[in-house]
Amino acid sequence: MTSKLRLGVNIDHVATIRNARGGDHPDPVRAAEIVASVGGDGITAHLREDRRHIRDEDLARIQSATELPLNLEMAATPEMLEIALRHKPHAACIVPEKREERTTEGGLDAAGLHNSLVPIVDELRSADIRVSLFIEANERQLDAALRLGAPVVEFHTGEYAHAFLDGESEKVASELKRISDMAALAAKNGIEPHAGHGLTFENVQPIAAIPQIAELNIGHYLVGEAVFVGLESAIRRMRDLMDEAR
Ligand code: PXP
Repeated sequence: MTSKLRLGVNIDHVATIRNARGGDHPDPVRAAEIVASVGGDGITAHLREDRRHIRDEDLARIQSATELPLNLEMAATPEMLEIALRHKPHAACIVPEKREERTTEGGLDAAGLHNSLVPIVDELRSADIRVSLFIEANERQLDAALRLGAPVVEFHTGEYAHAFLDGESEKVASELKRISDMAALAAKNGIEPHAGHGLTFENVQPIAAIPQIAELNIGHYLVGEAVFVGLESAIRRMRDLMDEAR
């Protein structure tokens, strides 16, 4: 039997819309409450260095508004480490971050950055924050995650999502194989594999069907769909598709 796949909803882009006008509507906290009310399993929020969507004060508001675990996506910087230690989210997912990028393009080079990641991963783990590394699904990065003692990795599904969008069926198949092989290898080594980035109603099912993957984190598409059908309905449909694939 395959265990239930958790859905973490990334609410960053509710804050993107709010910030476009500089006021406080739409409030990402209201989105978090909706996620909780429709049975989402967690709230994911990325506090970016430039605060382009989620702001510092949103974190505490989200944490006090729902009982759902907060997965804080963060760059591996002293500033973000200090914020994570102060807020103590359930999980911290370390992501690469470049100011000029539109979104998180590509995974964290956990292998190349090993020495600078050691103290950050150690401090988060000592504070009982579940550390996840947002990496490309390959052996080099997985091996680095193992050496760093990360209990979780999140595989970047961006390449898969792009290939899917471009109708490149061979690339879709090879990406799926890569993610699926690495999910099996992670699980075999005691690391819990998650996945996310660019997932939609159309492309979620093959990823959701990978039995070792325990959690998907999905944001942009759900918030985009919410404009047309409402956040509640968009989350319910994603949940149904994920369950059907399992
Ligand atoms: N997981 C991580 C680590 C992310 O950084 C993001 C956002 O880039 C997501 C999941 C969600 O991606 P998307 O908004 O494309 O669904």
